[in-house]
Amino acid sequence: MSALHIEHAAGARRPLGVMAALPQELGDLIDAMRAESAVRAVSHGSRDYHVGTMCGTPCVATLARIGKVAAAATVSALIHAFDVEAVLFTGVAGGVGETVRVGDVVVADSFVQHDLDASPLFPRFEVPLLGVSRFAADPALSARLADACERFVTEEGAVLAARLGIEPPRVHRGLIISGDQFVAGAADVELLRAALPDALAVEMEGAAIAQVCHEYGVPCAVVRTVSDTADAEAPESFATFLTELAGSYSSAILRRFFGAEV
Ligand code: ADE
Repeated sequence: MSALHIEHAAGARRPLGVMAALPQELGDLIDAMRAESAVRAVSHGSRDYHVGTMCGTPCVATLARIGKVAAAATVSALIHAFDVEAVLFTGVAGGVGETVRVGDVVVADSFVQHDLDASPLFPRFEVPLLGVSRFAADPALSARLADACERFVTEEGAVLAARLGIEPPRVHRGLIISGDQFVAGAADVELLRAALPDALAVEMEGAAIAQVCHEYGVPCAVVRTVSDTADAEAPESFATFLTELAGSYSSAILRRFFGAEV
């Protein structure tokens, strides 16, 4: 295998990397890019990277699949092979904050790997030899993303939520925690809350992406729609939300983020 490095046209802006774990979580982004201009598909490391533009912004859109290793490998390729200037991740998560309901939207301001524990050698949650346990999302990119989410919930949220008979969505900002587990039990949620009381949502990729972006100095932002509350009903709630609403939420948020007419 030879190294891949995609060159940009002279003077072109570096692209934004846009990632999700599963196709539904990326919404209609790749179709919207195709409707705008030619999209080049590049296969690399068992993933397909779609290189094009969205509302004039150069983008590389891809699916990471599920879990921290998959996410870290994918974001690393976005940085090294595609020279992205920043990374945006969109998808669903389990709500663990007391006030977070199914259908709400969470924009991360920080991330912790909740399953990382090299104690007693290092404090629980701390990435060994990096000395960091909480990774920050990029403030400017996250503010722009949160603004897109606020406009989405105001303009379309109630209508979309009514499809599943759930409350109109709200936007939360705060800690997202990640681990290589689908959390599906009230007792597990209690343990997470006890260890990380300010956690709003749990998922399986965000903190891994944030670690890689931190190590390479690349800004990142993550938005998660709450598909379930990580309890015994989580598998069913997750599956229904993924099929019925995840794509519509992601499409609507990304369109506003990129400044498309909605
Ligand atoms: N993504 C969506 N729901 C989740 C859950 N309950 N646990 C982990 N990741 C998730």
